[in-house]
Amino acid sequence: MSDKYIFAIDQGTTSTRAIIFDHSGSIVSTGQLEHEQIFPRAGWVEHDPMEIWGNTRQVIGQALSKANLTRHDIEAVGITNQRETAVVWDRTTGLPVYNAIVWQDTRTQAIVDRLAADGGGDRFKPIVGLPLATYFSGTKIAWILENVDGAREKAEAGDLMFGTTDTWVLWNLTGGLEGGVHATDVTNASRTLFMNLETLEWDDEILGIFGVPRSMMPEIRSSSEVYGTVNEHSLLREVPIAGILGDQQAATFGQAAFDQGEAKNTYGTGNFLIFNTGTEIIHSKNGLLTTLGYKLGDAEPHYALEGSIAVTGSLIQWLRDNLGLISSASEIETLARTVDDNGGAYFVPAFSGLFAPYWRSDARGALVGLTRFVNKGHIARAALEAIAFQTREVIDAVNADSGVPLTELKVDGGATANNLLLQFQADILGVPVVRPVVAETTALGAAYAAGLAVGFWSGLGELRSNWQEDARWEPDMEEAERARLLRNWKKAVTKTLDWVD
Ligand code: G3P
Repeated sequence: MSDKYIFAIDQGTTSTRAIIFDHSGSIVSTGQLEHEQIFPRAGWVEHDPMEIWGNTRQVIGQALSKANLTRHDIEAVGITNQRETAVVWDRTTGLPVYNAIVWQDTRTQAIVDRLAADGGGDRFKPIVGLPLATYFSGTKIAWILENVDGAREKAEAGDLMFGTTDTWVLWNLTGGLEGGVHATDVTNASRTLFMNLETLEWDDEILGIFGVPRSMMPEIRSSSEVYGTVNEHSLLREVPIAGILGDQQAATFGQAAFDQGEAKNTYGTGNFLIFNTGTEIIHSKNGLLTTLGYKLGDAEPHYALEGSIAVTGSLIQWLRDNLGLISSASEIETLARTVDDNGGAYFVPAFSGLFAPYWRSDARGALVGLTRFVNKGHIARAALEAIAFQTREVIDAVNADSGVPLTELKVDGGATANNLLLQFQADILGVPVVRPVVAETTALGAAYAAGLAVGFWSGLGELRSNWQEDARWEPDMEEAERARLLRNWKKAVTKTLDWVD
């Protein structure tokens, strides 16, 4: 048994966390800092990359000091991150030329429409696995080059660098201007719209169509290898950085869903279902994305189908922050339990348009079915049910694509502490929902990728034996009631379409 540890950095949408894991995959200590969510206009969402980098440095210190550990106790660092959020910075100053444009941001709709006008919304899908949508980072890079003063000229002169936040953290941790490593892994690269799924390289033709110089793009590496070592200015100096996985792929890895046919669903700001398709690239006929699952060093890559839902946990935050309906996210369950059902109300949180399986950027949120009977409790319940309904629609798509229905759903993420939600999820799916002991699967997955690269763990078999069931929710709803609720939900979804002219 090793007395060393693996350090994971989870650069998420609302916060940056550092988590130290021991050899059994158990959490030893954590650090966490939230960063500001910047909403300059309707539909725009930004983060300050310098704040994120500052927070990263601080949470590293928090986690080490809480566990009373130093860099000498740490064998490797793994990074995981919110995926499609785009940072563009100056190669000579190291400073961002604009705030990070967050994955939820819809400002690039005009770019999407312009590109779709010539060949349709699925024109790049056979190569990159993704439809044209504001969600993906490539559209955000194009927006920065088209809208930030001087950015296009600098980019063409080779003076700008692009990265998702894994790359931003990696570049800074490895020294920034003093020789920082400019790289990403295949899972993050697969969210740009620019990576060829077969060759795992940037596609020059697509980069050209978007007007993005190749010199801005990071090198695409595997998810588990030594990318570089931490620079001397950090508390983790000289520790190798040896794992990078986009957060949803990291959660899949942390759930030990390594093989074809295995899946997980993460309940975060959004919900993301990932279904491992093994070494096969499967193109969805039902609105799912084709994406990279993971690639360990030189081994063959694993692919996945993904059902991305933009707004789930962030709906609960919205009820807290914008409406003041609750004062903390955990109160939503108590409020929802004051009533027996949704009272006829359905809440479709299409705040960033609708992602899977619809991909309708023109959709906007709707609360329908209201009567004077509806109260706060019903709205709380409708919000929780919306999370489960959206997940059901994504699982229907997975089942249709794979031809083999899922027999149970592995779940993780913050909202899986909510029993009412998970019981309703099992009810509306008609299959059991299962939560592991370590629900921090995102950070765990990044730690696994890093630990495998440096021989801290021997292989996937050892990791699989770390997975343990914590709780299980069995379905307990009549089929007729399930069908009625789903019918109403789908009707509610139709009310959200065509809202943006
Ligand atoms: O695709 C977006 C996803 O990576 C964000 O995840 O957990 O930071 O909301 P999270």
